[in-house]
Amino acid sequence: MQKEIAMFDVQKVREDFPILKRTVNGKPLVYFDNAATSQTPQVVIDAIVDYYSSYNANIHRGVHTLSQEATDAYEIARKKVQQHFNAKHSYEIILTSGTTHSINIIATGFTNLLTKGDEIIVSALEHHSNIVPWQMLCERTGAILKVIPMNEEGELVMSVYDELLTERTKLVFTNHISNALGTINPIEEIIEKAHKVGAAVLIDGAQSCPHIKPDVQELDVDFYVASAHKLCGPTGVGMLYGKEEWLEKLPPYQGGGEMIDQVTFEKTTYAGLPHKFEAGTPNICGGIAFGVALDYMNSIGFDNIAAYENDLLEYGTQKLLEVEGLKIYGTSKNKTSVISFNIENIHPYDIGTIVDKLGIAVRTGHHCAQPIMDFYKIPGTVRASFSFYNTKEEIDALVAAVQKAKTMLS
Ligand code: ALA
Repeated sequence: MQKEIAMFDVQKVREDFPILKRTVNGKPLVYFDNAATSQTPQVVIDAIVDYYSSYNANIHRGVHTLSQEATDAYEIARKKVQQHFNAKHSYEIILTSGTTHSINIIATGFTNLLTKGDEIIVSALEHHSNIVPWQMLCERTGAILKVIPMNEEGELVMSVYDELLTERTKLVFTNHISNALGTINPIEEIIEKAHKVGAAVLIDGAQSCPHIKPDVQELDVDFYVASAHKLCGPTGVGMLYGKEEWLEKLPPYQGGGEMIDQVTFEKTTYAGLPHKFEAGTPNICGGIAFGVALDYMNSIGFDNIAAYENDLLEYGTQKLLEVEGLKIYGTSKNKTSVISFNIENIHPYDIGTIVDKLGIAVRTGHHCAQPIMDFYKIPGTVRASFSFYNTKEEIDALVAAVQKAKTMLS
């Protein structure tokens, strides 16, 4: 198979990110914590400055010019999110504060749709934000949580998934890509099989959206959620896609302004979609900047991003494995540019601290995925996660820093 070649100039792309020019501890910043949050290009920073400098106002509430300008910009952003994810209708896109908020809207919304003994399936590869809300839902309803197990490579054991699905399965949740290991899960198969038993499926796209452009209609997924800050947008804003029929069925998550139709002391009727789920003043500037971030990512192109990051992944894997005693966790062939590793007898925090002294940002710890760490019987890992603005020279710097840390700590 011919290898895909990325069609962009990485040095030119790096110019778009002012933060990449800074130094940390006297060394050029090497930012490898992209799975935690991505960096912000100048166009997104400009959009934020422009909003607060020119048309800061509350939306959907005023006839004055500023309010209308802000409302228009916010609704254009919603449309961009709709187009990016290929939702059928823009009102199927709820703008939230992020993936965790989006998941909680659904988990809370299902409280009255489940009864004791109903079953919910999650994957063993989940982030805590896709475990805890379902445990809370089970506590409220008496539903039972079941788990698709993982194997040593960090892949889901799909034969067990087949056995877990029953006519009592009402919901299935998994991430599209594991934040801790980078595994790309077979979500097409998960969705198709869940639908055969009549279960709804939620896919957590927090880690996939920086690398892949999902098509929610083609996937036929019921809910898909993501955060803007993982894909070059600001923190505090994200999205929830839900099929219209599901969003109509679910009750509002919060009561307040904006989500109502008529309010009297006797009774309140709710607004239609998407406002039913958008109580209170939202992160207006964040929503607008989210749209700009999507434009920016699309201008680079997701095929280009995937090809380039795969190359970095291959290179980084090969170079890091040259360090004696280094073990990579998550070795699926189907994975994205995340490398989680440990060095024999050295605590991940110690490696993270030393490489930071050399200007390199990695994440250390359990990555909000303690069950994965329990599976491997480790306290955590060092995680280097690459983005399209990283380079092979930066990977060389990481490998040299890890070698140095190993010498110092052994
Ligand atoms: N979920 C984010 C991470 O994996 C914060 O680092």
